[in-house]
Amino acid sequence: MLSSSSMQSTLQRYQQDIYTALRRAVYKVSDVETHPELNALQAYYGQMQYHLGWVDTNFSPTRSNFGKFLRPTLLLLSYEAAGAWGLATNIPDNDNYLCRALPAAAAVELTHNFTLIHDDIEDGDAERRHRSTLWKIWGVPQAINTGDGMFALSRLTLWDVLEEGVEGSIAARLGALLDHACLVLAEGQYLDISFEKRLDISVAMYVDMISRKTAALMRCAAEMGARLGTRDEETIDRLCSFGWAIGIAFQVRDDILGVWASTTELGKTPTGDIYRRKKSLPILHALEHANSDDQALLQAIYMQAAPVTREQVERVLAVFARTNTKAYCYEFLAQQCKLAYEALASVPRHGSPLCLRALSDLETLVGFVEETVKA
Ligand code: IPE
Ligand code: IPE
Ligand code: MG
Ligand code: MG
Repeated sequence: MLSSSSMQSTLQRYQQDIYTALRRAVYKVSDVETHPELNALQAYYGQMQYHLGWVDTNFSPTRSNFGKFLRPTLLLLSYEAAGAWGLATNIPDNDNYLCRALPAAAAVELTHNFTLIHDDIEDGDAERRHRSTLWKIWGVPQAINTGDGMFALSRLTLWDVLEEGVEGSIAARLGALLDHACLVLAEGQYLDISFEKRLDISVAMYVDMISRKTAALMRCAAEMGARLGTRDEETIDRLCSFGWAIGIAFQVRDDILGVWASTTELGKTPTGDIYRRKKSLPILHALEHANSDDQALLQAIYMQAAPVTREQVERVLAVFARTNTKAYCYEFLAQQCKLAYEALASVPRHGSPLCLRALSDLETLVGFVEETVKA
């Protein structure tokens, strides 16, 4: 069992570096002092900053929930685990060696945030990170547009690796990785939405869908970090497998929280997946293992034309309880986390203190995915 302090310190190790890199990326294109012509566009960039948690709805500075920075943390730890391009081997007392990887870390976080802006429109979610979503405040057209802008900005930010001395061929490879991850992520979103209207979804189809909508970007983060850290293909390959495995586990965790966590833990309305008839793991298990009456009930609720009511959500939760669905989901998560630990154990150990600390931190991240649900 991991202590919550080791989880916190791992998740927080690079918070400030990532935050600074993100602010630099956004201000580079939006600062009115250097771009006075942008005066009329302050609300556009204000919406980006609102989503990132830096300003309130009036665009006054605030420090809201920024998110966990999981993907950029994964990228930076993979960079270190792969050898940090030989720029540091002992635990350094400054972060200079991180500069090589920080634009990519910021790019991945911006990509993630663009997908969240669009995901909240697609899922009709009114809240994220304990705040109203962009579309809820400024409407769907402007939220789509802000998301598009953040997508483009993520790419522009990635090219800043060239200013940090990253070789052109590696930078181009990273660009292709990010584009490919976005393509696959959108495939996953397509499957997720199309599954809402179907009942014939197997666990294998669910795992394929979440591996696209969530694990693809996590895998991309791990690979980008690894490619910035080393040319050794075996190390890169193993870190990729790790990113993939933890990504799948992470979405299973999200789906468990989506059903059983409270609003305080979630930062949004709980049981939203049931209202939207998402084919996440709990309903797949319940559909298969319920008795015939409960199966008929679930099928009727999940196929009816009318919106799902609060009372029907309670009935679905009661079927979950009767089918031991929660215990099944925990076990499934534990198995996915085991795969992630195994992938991590196969990463070649280069033996430097920095590399070993990073591998231990990556292990802690898996612990975070596994343990927070049980807490
Ligand atoms: C939310 O991701 C979307 C999923 C893939 C489940 P995170 O839980 O990493 O979101 P933030 O950035 O920390 O809010
Ligand atoms: C996660 O989507 C994947 C992306 C955002 C691309 P979900 O819809 O499952 O995630 P939450 O629960 O809204 O964060
Ligand atoms: Mg969603
Ligand atoms: Mg979604």
